[in-house]
Amino acid sequence: MAGTQDDGVPPNEQAGAYSGPRAVDPEPHDTHENDPDYITRTRFLSGVAVAGGAVLTGAIAVPIVGFAVTDAVKGEDEHWVDIGPLSDFPKDKTQSLAVSAGGGLPDRRVFLRYRDGVLMAIWNRCAHLGCPVTYSEGGDNYSCPCHGGAYNSLGQVTAGPPPRPLDRFDVKVVSGKKEVGKRGTLAGTWDPTGAPPDARVLVGKAFSIDEKQRPYRIHGPGEEVEGILKYLYPF
Ligand code: FES
Repeated sequence: MAGTQDDGVPPNEQAGAYSGPRAVDPEPHDTHENDPDYITRTRFLSGVAVAGGAVLTGAIAVPIVGFAVTDAVKGEDEHWVDIGPLSDFPKDKTQSLAVSAGGGLPDRRVFLRYRDGVLMAIWNRCAHLGCPVTYSEGGDNYSCPCHGGAYNSLGQVTAGPPPRPLDRFDVKVVSGKKEVGKRGTLAGTWDPTGAPPDARVLVGKAFSIDEKQRPYRIHGPGEEVEGILKYLYPF
């Protein structure tokens, strides 16, 4: 019978049979397996993923390492500003005054309190986002008008979003160039007991504290002083 394999004629050459390209005859293609310069789509996407991961890791790790390293060493330079005679600051009072920050920076508003036998200087900058806090003589406490932050007489947080207490400044009392009185037990405070009539009050560098009133280098508004979140600031 014509067209059978038995007669030696291939089936696609038999009369009336389709003889064009067939799906079972795929185009030979170059896999570039031996070409080191050829970039496959998989290799390209892998490269993009690795590069993206590196950038992301750097964006997170660099600030963390930076803050971790600088936390212990960064801080304000020591400087002292004479804010007047000790006699201007009567006991059991808290007074608001502007104090030069030095270095061309704007003045800072400070609450200078002389209570419980010690002088303490508290910065009026809210520890949440930096709004100026106000002092209440009646309650001997501080409140922030922006988001409801509230602090007690020592600047410790009692309500609202502030992540740490109000910042403080170093304080000391001098007569001439000689310090008179002694450092108080609370961070930044000064006990002026025994100071002579010519004693003057000096306010020094700013620093931050935690809820236990342990001192830290000065932090920015919203910045934690302890815990893992401090490494994520300002994210
Ligand atoms: S800035 Fe003070 S509570 Fe937000």
